[in-house]
Amino acid sequence: MPAHDSTESFDKHPSLIIRELHPFNAGPPPELLRRAFITPQELFFVRNHAPVPAIDAADYRLPVKGLAQNALSLSLDELRRFPKHEVMATLQCAGNRRDVMTAIRPVSGELPWGAEAISNAIWGGARLRDILDAARVEGEARHVAFLGLDEIKKKGARFGFGGSIPIEKALSPEVILAYEMNGEALAPVHGGPLRVVVPGYIGARSVKWIGEVTLQTDPSDNYYQARSYKLFPPQTTVDDADWERGLMLGELSVNSFITSPVEGAVVEDGTIAVQGYATAGGNRRVERVDLSIDGGATWTTATLDDDADATQSWAWRFWEAQLDLPTGAHTVVARAWDSAANTQPADASTIWNFKGYMNNAWPRVTFKVR
Ligand code: MTE
Repeated sequence: MPAHDSTESFDKHPSLIIRELHPFNAGPPPELLRRAFITPQELFFVRNHAPVPAIDAADYRLPVKGLAQNALSLSLDELRRFPKHEVMATLQCAGNRRDVMTAIRPVSGELPWGAEAISNAIWGGARLRDILDAARVEGEARHVAFLGLDEIKKKGARFGFGGSIPIEKALSPEVILAYEMNGEALAPVHGGPLRVVVPGYIGARSVKWIGEVTLQTDPSDNYYQARSYKLFPPQTTVDDADWERGLMLGELSVNSFITSPVEGAVVEDGTIAVQGYATAGGNRRVERVDLSIDGGATWTTATLDDDADATQSWAWRFWEAQLDLPTGAHTVVARAWDSAANTQPADASTIWNFKGYMNNAWPRVTFKVR
């Protein structure tokens, strides 16, 4: 399949931090991340494992097959005839905040993401559930696998990016086959004409340029489900990893980041506004964010913005606290709590893994008050 040249065809913001040009991988810097609760498409982070495929919308069809009594092959027009739903959901890559792990011990062959592999959008499209209902799911189906139309080249093989989610999640109302993002047509770089959006799960399960949906008994055997996006203990190395035993990533864990002040900033004496974002995974919600300026001995509770109402559990939450700090250097740390009372570990070294996934350790920022 022909592919776009990643550098030429994207309408992306000039301030994006570009982690890789071919394929294109980029995200918004901390000062822009929290500027808008709903991230504009041109600022929304991009995670591509291969070039963006060129897809002719007129010829496009989505097969829905496997353990289905009524296998389907749907054109975009047919997909648009299913009721349209909008879901606000934050996408977050499992590699978000990897830079902290990389600073502890090298993580080879992975993008050195800071805290910018995350963004929030309103996704519009058909519910996957409605399409699966039309395909009449058979009783033995336990997982729904997705395959992208991009072309990954690995060890002499060529295949599309893929992954799967359990059938219970696939039938949940928030899982969307999206053709719109923030009320606009879904841009090719974000998976247009059609992508899956799986709120509450690592970004990798939200397969872009979806070319196939398969109902099956087992999780996908695609490289990105069976070999990548698996979590190992700190002592495991790439050479001794038993891929069968790695934890297959699905739901995100609770996380947060301090967007302001930025690391190394010099701020004026007085009341300092400390701001950031926090996220929860699965069906959970961010309930509280605490801040400490003494390494966790004492804590102050931040104010959570109410941009997303209580029903929008798929969106990040913005938070802010005003701190009165004397002149000198300060290190502020944050920790979020979710609705299951999970919170973040203090130190990334305790959760370090050779792929650098799921860093949700307390974010830390050191700055100076003058
Ligand atoms: N789907 C395909 N087909 N190819 C990809 O490389 N990357 C995945 C996911 N879906 C990917 C994909 C990963 S790892 C993430 S984090 C999200 O897309 C990123 O979506 P975005 O680029 O719209 O932010």
